[in-house]
Amino acid sequence: MRVKKVAVITAGGDAPGMNAALRAIVRMGEKKGLLLFGVKRGYTGLLYNEVEPLNRRSVSGIINLGGTILKTSRCEEIKTEIGLEMAKKTIEYNNFDALIVIGGDGTFRGALDIKKKVDIQIVGVPASIDNDIYGTDETIGFDTAVNTAVRAIDYLRDTAYSHERLFIVKVMGRKRGFIALEVGIEVGAEFILIPEVKEDLNKIIAELKEFEKIGKRSNLMVIAEGYEGADQIPTILGNETKLEVRLSVLGYLQRGGPPTARSRLLAELFGTKAIECLINEEENVMVGIRDNKLETTPLKEAVGKEKEINLELYKLAKELT
Ligand code: F6P
Repeated sequence: MRVKKVAVITAGGDAPGMNAALRAIVRMGEKKGLLLFGVKRGYTGLLYNEVEPLNRRSVSGIINLGGTILKTSRCEEIKTEIGLEMAKKTIEYNNFDALIVIGGDGTFRGALDIKKKVDIQIVGVPASIDNDIYGTDETIGFDTAVNTAVRAIDYLRDTAYSHERLFIVKVMGRKRGFIALEVGIEVGAEFILIPEVKEDLNKIIAELKEFEKIGKRSNLMVIAEGYEGADQIPTILGNETKLEVRLSVLGYLQRGGPPTARSRLLAELFGTKAIECLINEEENVMVGIRDNKLETTPLKEAVGKEKEINLELYKLAKELT
């Protein structure tokens, strides 16, 4: 294999473990004789040629850091012809042979568009707190976000219990309910609302009234930000029951902080696998884990297919409340 010049990008929403993935890519890549470069600020840096060489020293001390040392952005320009032309220029100017993109759905779409413009080997590494990417059971950062939310809700539960209030906790997840479902079952929430399952609000109101009758006034509801009508639910439940309702939006808290052991391990495995793909000349694939085995999926499938949510887990959560 001739020496390859490989550019690495972290793009889209940051996810805890992106740094651990970068570290693995750089260290394993160097071992295999590759030349590694970091592109700053996601696709924005690719447009404006913000590129720096990376070596094993430049990625030391980052395995435990949340965020991404390369920085990231939501780059709208990469969706335009002009933006793609600019990206092409940077790639050609630096003679990059390969591009490793660490991110989610939008990041992979961007990479596929770049591929249409310029002949470059592309490998995707799924990193997103949302865990909404087809082709991998888990994405880098998901476990950390779930643990952060679980810890935060454990704190909220204390005050929910003491004041006998209904606490509604909104979690991230974009259009999907992976975070809400996992968090909901792990905190023992009385109600879990995910976009994949439409719940009858009247039934929930009736249940809450039943709870009230038996003196149970402290309740937890975990709701995914993508659930239809999520913003109106606290007011409706407050009006329709005698309960004191409080809303807590966890928001960006879930995206920060040191990656959990699991997010780090996944990042190290995915990073190493990405290098293996480069060496084996695998093109346009995303690395991932399925049934505990590292696998690759064509990037086109990863962005084109919808990942199924585990409805058995949803049923179980209901049975356990
Ligand atoms: O994809 C990660 C995520 O945090 C989603 O859960 C959320 O909907 C979105 O990003 C927020 O995006 P932004 O950082 O652009 O506000």
